[in-house]
Amino acid sequence: MNTKVNLAGIEMKNPVTVASGTFGYGREISQFFDLSKLGAVITKGTSLRPKNGNKPPRVCETASGMLNAIGLQNPGVEYFAQNDLPFLRKYDTKIIVNACGSSIDEYVELCKILNTLDIDGVELNLSCPNVKEGCMAFGNSYDGVKRVTTEVRKVLDKPLIVKLTPNVTNIAEIAKAVEDAGADGVSLINTLLAMKIDIYKKAPVLANKTGGLSGPAIKPVAVRMVWQVAQAVNIPILGMGGIINGEDAIEFMLAGATAVSIGAGNFIDPYTSVKTVEGIEEYMKNQKIDDINQIIGVVK
Ligand SMILES: Cc1cc2nc3c(=O)[nH]c(=O)nc-3n(C[C@H](O)[C@H](O)[C@H](O)COP(=O)(O)O)c2cc1C
Repeated sequence: MNTKVNLAGIEMKNPVTVASGTFGYGREISQFFDLSKLGAVITKGTSLRPKNGNKPPRVCETASGMLNAIGLQNPGVEYFAQNDLPFLRKYDTKIIVNACGSSIDEYVELCKILNTLDIDGVELNLSCPNVKEGCMAFGNSYDGVKRVTTEVRKVLDKPLIVKLTPNVTNIAEIAKAVEDAGADGVSLINTLLAMKIDIYKKAPVLANKTGGLSGPAIKPVAVRMVWQVAQAVNIPILGMGGIINGEDAIEFMLAGATAVSIGAGNFIDPYTSVKTVEGIEEYMKNQKIDDINQIIGVVK
């Protein structure tokens, strides 16, 4: 059985990776299983300089999901290069850095540095709904996405995957901007802008007031968007949003995803990503599929 896929030039041993921000830099979860079992590890959103993120409370549970407004807390690219990258390199898996910035110059400076590191690709986060500047300001228009992607493409030789926000009217149009600007792949979806109110305090639960919804609650929205994007572009798709097992992953691949990320599912059970790899193999055996690539985008 062949489970290998090529995501935007990144050769993955299987189609399963982890969604940025739900896996840190892999250290904590490496206590549970061998990270070499994953097709790739995607890091926490990493910026040019360290960021403290938003004030707590920054997460809360909702029906079949969760809200977060972390605000891209991270130690910065230099710290990552010196401490986390050597740790991750010990494993036989691909390393994709989720890159975030608050201006085009910042994205470009960051990607110049990432281009010199021993990593396998970059996932450009143009989609975080929880920071006041950057990301969403670029991520929700064709022109914004095209501008950032074009500038980053000039300095980045490594595989470039651009991560999209679902908080737009026409996701296919935004994906087209990514393709037109020369990116190698597109990833979706980031979280849906949402809110929870404490009815006794008569106040928002999150200090940031609003946050991003993720987990199984968003899966049908994510599948629909992956399918729409698959009809609109020719570059590979990294699909995510509520995946917690092999069957969910297969659904995304049938909709057009070449690979999938596990996000909030890691918080339910730290083994979710490896169980998803096993679930995909199980499905292939039952359905007598000898190459996983045969199911990508079958549903038109
Ligand atoms: C706690 C938390 C932190 C996140 N941080 C990031 C981030 O730093 N960069 C990013 O692109 N997406 C971030 N995301 C979004 C996820 O990568 C993913 O796109 C989203 O959660 C949908 O997948 P899921 O339903 O499987 O969680 C974060 C999500 C959560 C729950």
